[in-house]
Amino acid sequence: MRCLLLLASLGLVAAENGLNAWLRYAPLPRGTYSHVSLPSDIIALNSSQTSPVYTAGQELAKGFEGIFGKHVSVSHKASKASSCLVVGTIDEYEKSYGKLKNAPELKDDGYWLSNKGSTIQILGQNERGALYGAFQYLSMLAQGDFSKVAYASSPATAARWVNQWDNMDGSIERGYGGASIFFSNGLVVDDLTRAGDYARILASIGVNTVVVNNVNANVTTLSTENIKGLGRIADVFRPYGVQLGLSLNFAAPNTSGTAIPPIGTYDPLDPKVVAWWTNMTELIYDAVPDMAGYLVKADSEGQPGPLVYNRTLSDGANLFARPLQPHGGIVMFRAFVYNLLNESDWKADRAKAAVDFFKDLDGKFEDNVVIQIKFGPIDFQVREPTSPLFANLFKTPTAIELEVAQEYLGQQCHLVYLPPLWKTVLDFDLRVQNKPSLVRNIISGERFNHKLGGTVAVVNVGTNTTWLGSHLAMSNLYAFGRLAWNADQDPQDILQDWIRLTFNGNPTVVDSITQMSMESWPAYENYSGNLGIQTLTDILFNHYGPRAASQELNGYAQWTRADHDSVGMDRTLKNGTGYSRQYPDEIYNMYENIDTTPDNLLLWFHHVNWTHQLHSGKTVIQHFYDAHYDGSNMAQTFVPTWETLKGKIDNERYNDVLFRQTYQAGHSLVWRDSIVNYFHNMTSIPDKHGRVGNHPWRIEAEDMELDGYKVYQVNPFEAASNANAIVTITNSTTGTATTKLKFESGTYDFAVNYFDQIGGKATWKAYIDDRLVAEWIGNMEDTLGHAPSPYLDSSSAIRKTWHGVKIKKGDTLKIVGKADGIEPAGVDYVSFLPKGIVD
Ligand SMILES: *[C@@H]1O[C@H](CO)[C@@H](O)[C@H](O)[C@H]1NC(C)=O
Ligand SMILES: *[C@@H]1O[C@H](CO)[C@@H](O)[C@H](O)[C@H]1NC(C)=O
Ligand SMILES: *[C@@H]1O[C@H](CO)[C@@H](O)[C@H](O)[C@H]1NC(C)=O
Ligand SMILES: *[C@@H]1O[C@H](CO)[C@@H](O)[C@H](O)[C@H]1NC(C)=O
Ligand SMILES: *[C@@H]1O[C@H](CO)[C@@H](O)[C@H](O)[C@H]1NC(C)=O
Ligand SMILES: *[C@@H]1O[C@H](CO)[C@@H](O)[C@H](O)[C@H]1NC(C)=O
Ligand SMILES: *[C@@H]1O[C@H](CO)[C@@H](O)[C@H](O)[C@H]1NC(C)=O
Ligand SMILES: *[C@@H]1O[C@H](CO)[C@@H](O)[C@H](O)[C@H]1NC(C)=O
Ligand SMILES: *[C@@H]1O[C@H](CO)[C@@H](O)[C@H](O)[C@H]1NC(C)=O
Ligand SMILES: *[C@@H]1O[C@H](CO)[C@@H](O)[C@H](O)[C@H]1NC(C)=O
Ligand SMILES: *[C@@H]1O[C@H](CO)[C@@H](O)[C@H](O)[C@H]1NC(C)=O
Ligand SMILES: *[C@@H]1O[C@H](CO)[C@@H](O)[C@H](O)[C@H]1NC(C)=O
Repeated sequence: MRCLLLLASLGLVAAENGLNAWLRYAPLPRGTYSHVSLPSDIIALNSSQTSPVYTAGQELAKGFEGIFGKHVSVSHKASKASSCLVVGTIDEYEKSYGKLKNAPELKDDGYWLSNKGSTIQILGQNERGALYGAFQYLSMLAQGDFSKVAYASSPATAARWVNQWDNMDGSIERGYGGASIFFSNGLVVDDLTRAGDYARILASIGVNTVVVNNVNANVTTLSTENIKGLGRIADVFRPYGVQLGLSLNFAAPNTSGTAIPPIGTYDPLDPKVVAWWTNMTELIYDAVPDMAGYLVKADSEGQPGPLVYNRTLSDGANLFARPLQPHGGIVMFRAFVYNLLNESDWKADRAKAAVDFFKDLDGKFEDNVVIQIKFGPIDFQVREPTSPLFANLFKTPTAIELEVAQEYLGQQCHLVYLPPLWKTVLDFDLRVQNKPSLVRNIISGERFNHKLGGTVAVVNVGTNTTWLGSHLAMSNLYAFGRLAWNADQDPQDILQDWIRLTFNGNPTVVDSITQMSMESWPAYENYSGNLGIQTLTDILFNHYGPRAASQELNGYAQWTRADHDSVGMDRTLKNGTGYSRQYPDEIYNMYENIDTTPDNLLLWFHHVNWTHQLHSGKTVIQHFYDAHYDGSNMAQTFVPTWETLKGKIDNERYNDVLFRQTYQAGHSLVWRDSIVNYFHNMTSIPDKHGRVGNHPWRIEAEDMELDGYKVYQVNPFEAASNANAIVTITNSTTGTATTKLKFESGTYDFAVNYFDQIGGKATWKAYIDDRLVAEWIGNMEDTLGHAPSPYLDSSSAIRKTWHGVKIKKGDTLKIVGKADGIEPAGVDYVSFLPKGIVD
């Protein structure tokens, strides 16, 4: 056995634009591995270039080259002479090397990894498993972990799926990281390089299927030309062991544009419809012989489904399940079915819908149907109780649907590390029949004895080199895969692996990013919506900025029922919607009773007075005020925390993230002020600490002397400080606002809150006594890569800060704004902040 001792040489540093995500294979610092012997040869036991085992060999070689600057050749024939690292399936290994001692028990896709003997063994239960083992080994090496290990690892859930909501025109529903990497102009794109890169990233975290098209599915995905295109996508996925999945439109048999002519109906029990889907399924499998299956959103938010024909949802799911069976495919059938409701009905409750629709269908689904359930009963809110549907289906396998796309959670413009939120559900014990019933053991199939089960995430990867539009948001994708493999892991441990792989192992880097990330969800919850009231975003429009009133008086039933005296949804059985009764007894009892309901879900389950005292001792309203101040203060700290990394990571990513954290710090203040002003206005209850509505360092723009600017009443009122802003008189003119400064002479941070709308690039300049102190442009649509709003509202509201601005009492501040496009150079207020004050 000749395992060469390493001769260190540094590899090239790749451009740090995020494209390689956590698979950078960056050179380890010299000297940290001089004691380590590396293999002289890699033997990958499959020579077919489409084999994940072949890919594993290439990936290992690439890793050795990058991490250690060492070229290791790959061969494909088993050889005993030089067998320093063997990667392959267990079957192939045993054919050449004899029975593996202590052969491990592996589930589908599992692997055995051992570097203890003279040969490093990376052996999969199947080909994909071998690749997963290789990525795991590389992850250790890239983190400088040279410990001796020998263990078997198998995934907890069989279906580890990503759902991309990509449209055929190339847009992505809830996409914040560029356009689709799969589709453009109604067709599959020609250049699928990024699709292959994506498969590589996903394989490294054990994801085995990508549903490439939106759940709100367009029938043209099933045109003859696009089915061919799907075949090409599957071809680039295959070497990574990633399978293709497809979202279907239930009405496709009644719609033209697909490869099979329409038949005038889509009734799931009509034999013609059955034949249509059988034929369609065959056509798809001709192009994609290893397709994983279908994802179906039916009778949901305007999508067609079986209820149109008075058939059941199980009839609908089984329609697709049957033709998939000969191919081993599965149907992921979404439980997101609800009707619009009327708020004047105290007992109406959308949270009850999934159980109401699905409970009685348990046992009526084909074996290859999995019910895909959002983690909470509403829709990816900042905090929700665990969906009770997990405790109501015993004969049907289930999958949890998570969202890496930060739809309601800052849209990748705010840092929100989501695994701590996901874990509140994955680790929740539903106590079915008074027995331990953790959600993670339900979806794995363990609790109710199913082979199938799944962990699914909606992901909005796009053409941006950062994939998600934000470097730090990628920790959510990484952690999703890790938790789908094994949900019994600590979010912080996962995060730190990600940090070391994505940036480096410098302790300051690891500590700083850990601190920011671990505080980020609690901070976001604090400044968006706390005590279980849900994320108070604009739910009727962009799901981004604050707009508390949008929860009310519409059929979406995300009501807060807030009024002058009281707030919260009464979901008790005794006096409310009865939602609490959908849980097994122990959980029902906990939530039914206000004393045993945790504060963080109080307003989800109970309707209380604003002066109701929490377990913490505070009143509900004072908690609102405090939490919004605390959360936004925490978001301010992310900026200096990040700044400790200057010089410790590459400049490109340092600057990208600094920009976003600065943005978040400003927008968290918009959140804070909107929500506290809204409820202060509603309740007339003062903040005990006197902060709400009291801003001594601000100058309202509408109070300045205006020329070419006019006062604009912002809607909703709480989106602007003091309800008003200024805008230029026309969309193509310049306005000037001036005022004499009354603050004491000194050095201040100068902050401007203004409005950056999509659809224009207004420019602003600020002068102090004719000295230019600040100059900026309304180009967030480019710099943030995501344009939150075309309106003057709490989504376009933004802050910029200039540090160390010197003023003298009596100086004249002048702001000159020049409109552009639809953007009338709006300004809300400016602040002169003494050191240490943020307001
Ligand atoms: C090699 O890989 C190809 C492609 O995945 C597969 O079809 C074949 O069965 C593999 N061969 C062996 C011996 O595992
Ligand atoms: C389906 O996609 C085609 C091609 O991009 C587009 O023209 C059509 O408007 C889409 N249909 C729907 C309902 O979105
Ligand atoms: C089926 O398609 C026809 C023609 O477009 C349409 O008139 C009919 O309403 C459709 N049926 C259903 C149930 O949507
Ligand atoms: C399905 O395919 C069969 C065999 O090619 C054909 O006879 C039948 O008409 C097709 N049915 C539909 C609804 O497409
Ligand atoms: C479904 O049932 C309702 C109520 O019984 C009836 O009004 C409607 O016509 C039925 N629809 C179909 C497509 O059969
Ligand atoms: C809701 O119910 C109330 C009282 O029954 C009724 O006045 C109102 O019109 C309903 N609203 C809608 C949108 O149906
Ligand atoms: C990625 O997004 C950033 C903004 O977040 C933008 O500046 C950059 O140009 C985008 N790059 C690509 C390749 O789309
Ligand atoms: C009980 O429900 C009614 C509405 O039906 C509501 O007005 C009342 O406040 C509730 N009582 C309590 C004690 O929550
Ligand atoms: C809630 O407030 C209302 C109106 O001020 C009052 O009548 C009621 O007694 C309060 N309820 C509780 C439980 O404090
Ligand atoms: C969230 O707000 C609560 C209540 O004010 C506070 O105790 C907690 O420290 C805050 N946490 C963060 C991260 O803002
Ligand atoms: C609430 O805000 C509205 C709109 O700005 C204003 O007219 C009203 O006076 C405010 N009420 C209180 C109590 O602050
Ligand atoms: C001017 O701005 C207003 C408000 O944003 C917008 O409605 C209007 O379309 C804009 N006009 C032009 C010419 O862009």
